[in-house]
Amino acid sequence: MSARPEVRLVGCSEAIRSIETDIECAARSDAKVLITGETGVGKEVVARLLHQRSHRASNPLVTVNCAGVPDSLLESELFGHTRGSFTGAYRDKAGLLEQAQNGTVFLDEVGEMSMRMQVVLLRFLETGEIQRIGADRSHTRVNVRLVTATNRELQTQIASGAFREDLYFRLNVIRLSLPPLRERVEDIPLLVEYFLDTCSRQHRVSTPRVAPAAMDVLMLHAWPGNVRELKNVIERLVLKANGQVISPSELPADVRRLGPPSSAAEAPAGASAVQKRPVAEELATRMLEHRESFWAVVYPEFMARDLTREDLRKIVQIGLENTSGNYRLLTRLFGMPDEDYKRFLSFLRKHECHLPFKNFRVARVSTTPTRSTAATS
Ligand SMILES: Nc1ncnc2c1ncn2[C@@H]1O[C@H](COP(=O)(O)OP(=O)(O)OP(=O)(O)O)[C@@H](O)[C@H]1O
Ligand SMILES: [Mg+2]
Repeated sequence: MSARPEVRLVGCSEAIRSIETDIECAARSDAKVLITGETGVGKEVVARLLHQRSHRASNPLVTVNCAGVPDSLLESELFGHTRGSFTGAYRDKAGLLEQAQNGTVFLDEVGEMSMRMQVVLLRFLETGEIQRIGADRSHTRVNVRLVTATNRELQTQIASGAFREDLYFRLNVIRLSLPPLRERVEDIPLLVEYFLDTCSRQHRVSTPRVAPAAMDVLMLHAWPGNVRELKNVIERLVLKANGQVISPSELPADVRRLGPPSSAAEAPAGASAVQKRPVAEELATRMLEHRESFWAVVYPEFMARDLTREDLRKIVQIGLENTSGNYRLLTRLFGMPDEDYKRFLSFLRKHECHLPFKNFRVARVSTTPTRSTAATS
């Protein structure tokens, strides 16, 4: 009767395409599935798709969040209770496992389960029997498919004694791992379009457009809250933009700011364009000599249009001369962590500032960059 909200796993990255294939494959069996990934990456989306595409789709999908629920409550939620088994238990009540008969049970944040509940779950997985709280024997058996999710490193928890290894092996039959959004930046434009569209329909406002420069900023943000954070940002923009074009300055400050706050990031466009001519050398020196980050030193200036493409190319040139054309070393040399390598390259390519490394290759390639030649002709 009630319209089920549409579930979609939007994305074109290799990771999303391979998860799609894995979901199709997992949906054909009843094997237990463990979904892992940082907060907000889409674990629940995957669990719902898995259920919808399985032969259990016409039966219930029951979701239970294990985080922050006291043991007694979680146990009674899952297994049910008998009348009089505790204060307030006025009648017999079936648990969620029973309610999900022939369907799927999705145990979210399973890494948060207490040791005692882990034992209870393990017993259930071994027998399939339901013993309601207060009952002295098993009440029934159920046929459910178990899907679990966690954003914790269960291996680490096993090592520290917080998670049972035998339970882990039982849950981890099929593993679906969702990488963080910053590792699949090519999904960002599609997700932005998708949320612009769905949020504006939901709030009945006209759909705004994101300017290319603003999209660049969105693609360079690290998204610690992953897709959930992106969705929230877009929803706020949709409500504020009123169908207009969204420019970089309209994005939230924490999305715009990639490194430590820089006054240049807030400078009005073109304000200091003239006085900054040998700017490429100056900025390169700040990174090479003073270990400041590219994201803090160059990026905001470029986005505020205080730096031209020519300047940026010059900066890259200076850097590559120091690393003999090695872009990985250049990432480090420009004060960025190794994980930023792809973001850095996609930023340069997008703005046509990616110089061919071959021009900088010399006969003897040094692996330790020399930092003394910031100002070259
Ligand atoms: N690939 C995607 N396509 C469309 N929407 C997505 C995608 N990934 C996530 N979302 C949306 O982002 C939000 C967060 O996703 P979800 O709840 O599945 O994350 P999660 O991994 O379960 O997070 P948590 O660990 O915090 O529970 C939801 O609104 C979901 O619909
Ligand atoms: Mg979740």
